[in-house]
Amino acid sequence: MPFFPTKRLLAQFTNRAVVYAQHGDPTKVLSVLSYGPLPSPPSNTVNVRFILSPVNPADINVIEGVYPTKPKPDTSLRSSALGSSDQPAYVAGNEGLAEVTEVGNGVSGLEKKDWVIMTKPQLGTWCSSRNVGAHDVLKVPRAPGLSEVHAATMTVNPPTAYNMLQEFVPLKEGDWVMQNGANSAVGQAVIQIAASRGLKTLNFVRPRDDLADLVKQLEALGATKVLTYDALADKSLRKELKTWTGGRDIRLALNCVGGQETTLMTRLLGSDAYLVSYGAMSKQPLSLPTSLFIFKNLTARGFWQSRWYLEKSRDEQRRLMNVLVNLMSQGKLKEPMHEIISISAKESDEEATQKVRDVIAKSYSGRQGKKALLRINVE
Ligand SMILES: NC(=O)c1ccc[n+]([C@@H]2O[C@H](COP(=O)([O-])OP(=O)(O)OC[C@H]3O[C@@H](n4cnc5c(N)ncnc54)[C@H](OP(=O)(O)O)[C@@H]3O)[C@@H](O)[C@H]2O)c1
Repeated sequence: MPFFPTKRLLAQFTNRAVVYAQHGDPTKVLSVLSYGPLPSPPSNTVNVRFILSPVNPADINVIEGVYPTKPKPDTSLRSSALGSSDQPAYVAGNEGLAEVTEVGNGVSGLEKKDWVIMTKPQLGTWCSSRNVGAHDVLKVPRAPGLSEVHAATMTVNPPTAYNMLQEFVPLKEGDWVMQNGANSAVGQAVIQIAASRGLKTLNFVRPRDDLADLVKQLEALGATKVLTYDALADKSLRKELKTWTGGRDIRLALNCVGGQETTLMTRLLGSDAYLVSYGAMSKQPLSLPTSLFIFKNLTARGFWQSRWYLEKSRDEQRRLMNVLVNLMSQGKLKEPMHEIISISAKESDEEATQKVRDVIAKSYSGRQGKKALLRINVE
């Protein structure tokens, strides 16, 4: 991307990105930067215009510099434009829905106006437009009922939910799965994908004032039971659980929280069960009683969707995307609860920077409640 100074002169700048020059607290290091038009795409690449780009918890960790996948700096954007030393800047964001605007030589299977999602991690999606390798994106079919929000949030959370329900325990209709962080976007997808397979879900969330509303929302997605972590401390839960499951062992627990609540949840598992950890929202370490391993043959594993993408062929990636698109277009996998944050062309870079930092601050504190999606308008 060609570099231009930060001061936004509306007629001159046709693009914008959320960038940072050094890792750190996103509410301090992120800025919105305007820049000029993209050159024509080199061979085997396409220029794309981003439609919607989610703000996921991992994006914050990447900006902080504590996430294992590191982004590559964009050498055409210099951090001097951000008021610091002359280093290349990073464009934030990993996930997003984009529309192809120009196709380079040698690209097959992609045309102008096609919808694409990113399969290469950390491409920098919080921007209006950029150039990407044709092999770093997958074309999304325009299925009826498939919304922009569905497609923009399709790369990370729904496949994580789908794969965790698929890869560890052979589950059959009527089996139970338990999870914490059940109102997270992954948790919502777990509930719906499980329900579509006839599986029952025991869901844990943090206590809150509007708990009854949240329970209703999750039940509407297909949740069988929704409880708060407080219920885990109650000894009667085990007995109640037996009544609900008809004595059937629960063999899969999904964890994105960690800490003491996860220890207590794991104690509810039956024999030969799997605890699959995929996030650590509480930032508390996970400690598990040795007895669960000895007497119940517990297996504790991790899951990372980024590794799945690295290990699988494009055909396997496309197959999974098609499964998810079908579920979405049949109404079995709804858009996550979300909020779209539009940055208008009329806002100055300074105003847009403040808006983005406010969104991040809300996500940072937890309690965001809804998945935030950025729409960066330049017209
Ligand atoms: N391993 C993978 O491949 C993979 C893939 C996707 C996501 N993830 C991870 O999965 C987690 C959820 O991601 P998402 O995009 O679904 O999240 P999200 O929609 O932004 O929701 C965040 C969830 O975390 C909960 N939370 C926040 N702070 C918490 C705390 N201190 N203690 C307990 N719960 C807390 C929130 O509960 P409240 O409503 O109570 O705030 C909410 O349920 C993140 O850790 C993310 O990095 C991992």
